[in-house]
Amino acid sequence: MPIWYGADYNPEQWPEDIWSEDVALMRSGSINLATVGVFSWARMEPRDGEYDFAWLDTVIDLLHAGGVRIDLATATASPPPWLTTAHPEVLPVTASGVRLSQGSRQHYCPSSPVYRAHAARLVGMLARRYGQHPALELWHVNNEYGSHLSRCYCDVSANAFRVWLRTKYSTIDALNLAWGTEFWSQQYGSLEEILPPRAAPTFTNPTQLLDFDRFSSDEFLACYQAEVVILRQTGGGVPVTTNFMGFFKPVDYWKWAREVDVVTDDSYPDPADPDSPVSAAMSRDLMRSLGGGAPWILMEQAPSAVNWRGRNAPKAPGQMRAWSYQALARGADGILFFQWRQSAAGAEQFHSGMVPHGGTDTRIWHEVEQLGAELAALSERVGEQAIVGARVGAGVAIVLDWDSWWALEQDAKPADLDYVQQIFAWYREFWDRGVAVEFVRASDELSMYGLVLVPSLFVATDEQLANLDGYARDGGTLLVTYQSAITDVNLRARMGGYLGVLQRTLGVWVEEFAPLVGRSDADKPPTIPVAGEVFGGKAVGTLWSEFVRVTNATVMAEFTADTLAGWPAVTQNAVGSGSAWYVATLPEPGALSALVGAVLADGGIEAEPAFGGERGVEVVRRGGLTFVINHCALAVAVELDGTDLLSGTPARDMQLVSQGVAIISDYTG
Ligand code: GAL
Repeated sequence: MPIWYGADYNPEQWPEDIWSEDVALMRSGSINLATVGVFSWARMEPRDGEYDFAWLDTVIDLLHAGGVRIDLATATASPPPWLTTAHPEVLPVTASGVRLSQGSRQHYCPSSPVYRAHAARLVGMLARRYGQHPALELWHVNNEYGSHLSRCYCDVSANAFRVWLRTKYSTIDALNLAWGTEFWSQQYGSLEEILPPRAAPTFTNPTQLLDFDRFSSDEFLACYQAEVVILRQTGGGVPVTTNFMGFFKPVDYWKWAREVDVVTDDSYPDPADPDSPVSAAMSRDLMRSLGGGAPWILMEQAPSAVNWRGRNAPKAPGQMRAWSYQALARGADGILFFQWRQSAAGAEQFHSGMVPHGGTDTRIWHEVEQLGAELAALSERVGEQAIVGARVGAGVAIVLDWDSWWALEQDAKPADLDYVQQIFAWYREFWDRGVAVEFVRASDELSMYGLVLVPSLFVATDEQLANLDGYARDGGTLLVTYQSAITDVNLRARMGGYLGVLQRTLGVWVEEFAPLVGRSDADKPPTIPVAGEVFGGKAVGTLWSEFVRVTNATVMAEFTADTLAGWPAVTQNAVGSGSAWYVATLPEPGALSALVGAVLADGGIEAEPAFGGERGVEVVRRGGLTFVINHCALAVAVELDGTDLLSGTPARDMQLVSQGVAIISDYTG
């Protein structure tokens, strides 16, 4: 298999005489995979039950003749106006009771039987017509489930929610107990009384909210599965995917990842945000992790600017290429874009395309052609030197949990903490050091990792905590941060100091929270002084502090001000043959770096060699190759031996310009 290179291709937006030109251009751009039909429902089925596939036949045959493989979309993400006109109940309703309109996209209630029946009929038609087509490489189900519209509060959804709750709880007593409805007189007499968490005077029941999050993720998943069943029956045995969106809160990708044949991701980091290389890397590591380490496909990225931010920065020269190689380095076997030809009309007319409004004598097109040619050459590598199919190992794991994400960010909590920001703060330290990271569930097998980080695992089961405990006892290095194991899966507080069995593992318990409070208009988060050898002396904590009681751990750092003065900020406990750290604040970057250095050493994990002292140089190993990507504004000198595959020159002392990439084989350190 080659490295996939391609785009969303929307020929229905263009007159037919452009289609052949498109295919010719695709050949010169080394395009080998096109995603077709993502938003074509109205074109495929112009009236209820009347289908028009002639245009699609032509498009697919043209692509096939041009050597371009097809990722065929099921087109169900944007119901046509005739459907929502005839069945307005398909349109979703917000928590405040507003029924959203057609005229945009993703305007469907995932629980709607009418929507699902019409979608299934269309998918059946597509599967029968194209399942055996020799150009078909992949089925692309719907598009970005949960995007734009992730929760529907209509009466149909209310009913579906009740069915979901009946399956989960069996009896109303069990539900009342789980939701803690004794509080504020919320006891339900029967399921019929239950509603989605619609707009209410103040805080809604937290467990109802969490169950509605779980339910909503499951409803979209059920839509996906309903299409997949049809594709598996009549879709020609072609693999099936749906495109994920990185760290996307509304749907639990751990559950979804089991249902796709290949993980695919849409990635739109902001070129104007200096953190983008790191956050993009984190998403790519998540995609690899969701697939259990298997290669994944970057299904969409922008060739340059998007159109949906307040101000849309273009990518710098070389940045599209650098970020594409980042995905490849972190396990992608395909680099695709949204979209092939920049639209002339419609809401995305100012979103960049591989073929821009300005045509092919443009920077964007030249970069597209260059990258296509490079990837085609790299595709030919085989055996131990191959990129396609090669794995990326990791010594560090970070626990990621959607229940905790949903619960931690509810309103009625001790403080408004952003779950992914917590993870990102830690992730950045590993990125800076070239230390590979994978994401895991708390229940996963962890013994292959030298270090497991557990940031704010707010919701945890006893089994998950026992697994983390066992990991540490069996020789692992475990690091747990504040707001972990605060509740069970029903959001019932863990009595006696939180943390459950981890109290013994960590040798601490938590007496009281003290989230840091700052002026609400301040740019910087509130801080608190801390001190300890592990920070290299005096340092600063941010966002959080708390009163931690030590039963059996060594205090590695303390808070040094106000009522917290003298209370532990970081502890470490020798447990079994391993080690367990507890961190009660988010140290500022310099201090966090020192702490990460200490725990990496504790976990026996070595960092990659630094590059000219520059932060912003990314180093990743995949298979037998070492990728070096310079995200800095200035050139850096490569300090590794080996040969750069892209330039064909020796790597050592090579000057890597800003946005430059080297892929070093025969690396010797
Ligand atoms: C994605 C979506 C594409 C396109 C793109 C623009 O989220 O799947 O259809 O809208 O964003 O950035």
